[in-house]
Amino acid sequence: MTERVFNFSAGPATLPLSVLQQAQADLLCYPGAGASVMEISHRSKAFAKILAEAKADIKALLSLGDDYHVLFTPGGASMQFTMLAMNFLAGKTADYTNVGSWSSKALKDAQRFGTARSIWSGKADNYVRMPEDSELDLDPAAEYVHFTSNETIQGIQVATEPDVKGKALICDASSDFLSRPIAADKYAMIYAGAQKNVGPSGTAVVILRNDMLERVSEGLPSLLDYKVMVENDSLYNTPSTFTIYIIGLVVKWLRNEIGGLEKVAEINEKKAGLLYDAIDSSGGFYRGHAEKAWRSKMNVTFRVGNEEQEKLFIEQATKAGLDGLKGHRSVGGCRASIYNAMPTEGCQALRDFMLEFQRTNG
Ligand SMILES: Cc1ncc(COP(=O)(O)O)c(C=O)c1O
Repeated sequence: MTERVFNFSAGPATLPLSVLQQAQADLLCYPGAGASVMEISHRSKAFAKILAEAKADIKALLSLGDDYHVLFTPGGASMQFTMLAMNFLAGKTADYTNVGSWSSKALKDAQRFGTARSIWSGKADNYVRMPEDSELDLDPAAEYVHFTSNETIQGIQVATEPDVKGKALICDASSDFLSRPIAADKYAMIYAGAQKNVGPSGTAVVILRNDMLERVSEGLPSLLDYKVMVENDSLYNTPSTFTIYIIGLVVKWLRNEIGGLEKVAEINEKKAGLLYDAIDSSGGFYRGHAEKAWRSKMNVTFRVGNEEQEKLFIEQATKAGLDGLKGHRSVGGCRASIYNAMPTEGCQALRDFMLEFQRTNG
């Protein structure tokens, strides 16, 4: 296959075409460096500029000032489950909302380092919604409150960050990072595995408020210590330079070609609307997993007809160039991941396919 398909994979996920083209153009020789980005020192002038610009563009998109650090950390978002608990929990108490597969993993990993409590769980209802603020059982003694803004597997998303009564707010934003404007200054920390909205896999983007550094536990392994990471500007080890370069291109694309977070949110809303509308107008042939009020704009999860029809749907969609629609193995069904880089035409094509599939199989 040499043609690019519409790739609805949940991550690693589709990247903007212009970013891939730029990377292709730079591959043999990054302008001015005499070699590819993969071949130059992480301490070179050329890479220092790439790193500084990527950080500055992320801060500009989120309107963050000097009191926030942007880090690129190894091990993706899963490593952050552990790292944040090692740094900030360390034998004390923290509150976690348990809203789906990823938040339950974050909670489990944190429990190794202190008393991490579930302050709300959607498990009994199969994770179909997020909690209301009034349902949160906040502990006044908690060091921080952790929540997952978008549950990638179940396809549910918060409308806005929870009110945590002044506690340090930490968010796993892996699957909706930079997909809409947020009040970023309300957060003590935001982290995201890069492979959904901003780049290749294996690296997390971490936004950390400066005052959190005062809380960092003593005696941590260097690479798992936020203070060390900040002091060394994410260069304590040799980071994934190529990944940071791609993230830099993606955030430039988001700022300059798309026009920022308000604009991308508008596009994302429209894209998700095309699919949810096909589900809602199908008379039950397509059935969404999430409660309507909590539907994700990034991961549209749904079932199709009966089991046989669902299999056929995925098969035929793949043949039609609509790839990666199989739901996560833990929940089944279908999932269309439509992050920032999925063009509206991709959602339109999937919607057309859904309508036609129902017409011929419904
Ligand atoms: C919400 C969320 N958190 C965490 C992760 C884990 O990310 P990683 O694979 O980068 O460790 C994922 C991955 O899909 C995710 O969707």
